[in-house]
Amino acid sequence: MKPFYVTTPIYYVNDKPHIGHAYSTAAADMLARYHRLRGQPTRFLTGLDEHGLKIERRAQELGQEPQAFVDSMVPPFEEAWQQLDITHDDFIRTTSARHKEAVQRLWKMLEAKGDIYLADYEDWYCVGCESFKTEKELLPGNLCPDHKKPVEKIKEQSYFFRLSAYAEPLLRYFDAHPDFVKPEGRFNEVKSFVRAGLRDLSVSRSSFSWGIPVPEQPEHVMYVWLDALTNYISALGGPAEPGVAPLYDQFWGEDANVIHIVGKDILRFHTIYWPAFLMSAGIRLPSQVWAHGWLTVNGEKMSKGLGNFLPPAPLVEAFGADVLRYYFLREVSFGQDGDFNHKNLIARYNNELGNGLGNLLNRILPFLKKFDGKVPDVGPLEGADAALASLAEGLAAQVRDNLDAVQLNRALDAIKELIDAANKYVNDEEPWNLSKSDETLGRLAQVAYVTLECVRFLSVMLAPVMPNKANELRAQLGLGALEPQVGVDAWPSRFGELPAGTAVVAGKPVFPKIDAKQEEALLARLVPVPEGVEGDAEKSSGADKKSAKKAPKGQADSGGAGAPSGADAAEGGVTDGPTTIEFDDFAKVDLRVGLVLTAEKVPKKDRLLRLEVDLGEPAPRQIVAGIAEHFTPEQMVGRRVVVVANLAPRKLAGLVSQGMVLATNTPTGLQLLAASDDVPPGTPAK
Ligand code: MSP
Repeated sequence: MKPFYVTTPIYYVNDKPHIGHAYSTAAADMLARYHRLRGQPTRFLTGLDEHGLKIERRAQELGQEPQAFVDSMVPPFEEAWQQLDITHDDFIRTTSARHKEAVQRLWKMLEAKGDIYLADYEDWYCVGCESFKTEKELLPGNLCPDHKKPVEKIKEQSYFFRLSAYAEPLLRYFDAHPDFVKPEGRFNEVKSFVRAGLRDLSVSRSSFSWGIPVPEQPEHVMYVWLDALTNYISALGGPAEPGVAPLYDQFWGEDANVIHIVGKDILRFHTIYWPAFLMSAGIRLPSQVWAHGWLTVNGEKMSKGLGNFLPPAPLVEAFGADVLRYYFLREVSFGQDGDFNHKNLIARYNNELGNGLGNLLNRILPFLKKFDGKVPDVGPLEGADAALASLAEGLAAQVRDNLDAVQLNRALDAIKELIDAANKYVNDEEPWNLSKSDETLGRLAQVAYVTLECVRFLSVMLAPVMPNKANELRAQLGLGALEPQVGVDAWPSRFGELPAGTAVVAGKPVFPKIDAKQEEALLARLVPVPEGVEGDAEKSSGADKKSAKKAPKGQADSGGAGAPSGADAAEGGVTDGPTTIEFDDFAKVDLRVGLVLTAEKVPKKDRLLRLEVDLGEPAPRQIVAGIAEHFTPEQMVGRRVVVVANLAPRKLAGLVSQGMVLATNTPTGLQLLAASDDVPPGTPAK
């Protein structure tokens, strides 16, 4: 069985853990738990990124020595991961001796390859990103496009890494490994970035000292990203010759499946710098880098200014680790941005877990009294029983394939399908009627068996995301807790393996309902109140049901992401008056102000313009809009437009469009919805 190695980014310690970090970590944990269940040798790494100017300055602000400061930040992360039931096998700190030595070994390998040289450096640096910026990337006023804060001019002697030499090898590698970066749209961004050519990378600094010293040149400390990226192998004891570090041999060996889970903002570091360093050192590359999107909170970007940096602890306390993990991974399409909405969490909990899964068990267990509280013995399954059995087997295979492909929310979609199908089966079979007469007890036994076996399937499939609840379900089925073993594949595949005679143990509801009063109290306690808004939790929960809106009509642009035009948008045809949607539905649409950075005609397509639009994200988005008959490229550059930012990417004329520009058709022609010049790109519109 292939060894499986999964990592999270190592988190900067300038802030305490928040739900963005928790999301990454829960995703990696789900994968680690899944692969352990499959019997694979599995290793899961997380840790902390403790060097660099940002951390040094934060320590200074607090009047602390950097080492004392970073030490003080370890417990909050360790506690958070414990609360969330994260099962990492190791926790790497970049200030640890094992890590520092490893980074210095890697440096020497790059140097021995001839890829390190000393030169003068003069350029811009954003401390927030810990990254160099070219003049071209900056916003007016020398602002970092991601942090919207002024960058700093750096002029010093620096060691450089010959990154430019790796553009071609990287592109060849990308071609040969079409699944190297996921989602695909992000891979395309990475490829275009590399195709445009790479500049050598400054990999040392001499104007501050909070970093790992360059070997033999201690007046230089290493660039924090070279330091940080190495954590993935330093934690295994690498880089090392074969036979020296067993974990490195096993989990970074040629046949290991190595997956880095990262946020979309740090993709370039993981898919360009890190592979180039590894190529230079002659070390294998990770198998896949998976970039997930960013979470907003009740529709707002998390920021200190808004006071909505959500720490996971109060949410775990309110809902339990399992429910929070389930919500993150079910709600957000893995790879896309998503919203953390408290009301929505409670709704999903009540509907999917309480009424769906918990109820399934509660609806059947009482009838087991008819069989002395034991799983009845039934013969071969037929008809509706056999149909549900084969659906369960099919869905278990689907969940398995989705988890193998890191399609976490799709795996949960398939699980939900089984919950729904099993509930429908109970509705159709009406065990409450079957229990009324002795003549139908045989049928009741079959219905009970099939339902309980579905719950057993679900208990295994849900274990990677809800490990405690899965075991609670199993306890009620009379089954032991899951204990993964290397070499033993515990994934359910054959329906009918629940042993007859097992004594069920009906217990408390696994997902007790959150009623309206409890919900109100939870929202009042948990929903952050944006600064300047007093005590209006409802408003900030972004989920006021009373404020249902009319469906927007006819304002879609005709090209955007290949979306239908205004007229086509009423697709499905005739409607009886205006359709309304719930505020929750509206809140799902991520409308943002975008600044058009570049615009050009799409060859041979009269209607289409290809735009690059700054949406306040690390890289601009490519949007293909059907507006070329109304606007010239020159008229578009510098405009602020309103963009549907979470529309699924679509291909238009061979180009991936990553959003839709909103426009309205007027008697005098197409007009673009606009925002004034003082609205920063990325500002949400609602
Ligand atoms: N230290 C670097 C990573 C080095 S890995 C070799 C770093 N740290 S970070 O703490 O700033 O961010 C860590 C991760 O948290 C990133 O993957 C980032 O995308 C993620 N998130 C930070 N805010 C987030 C959200 N609001 N939503 C989802 N993930 C977010 O970058």
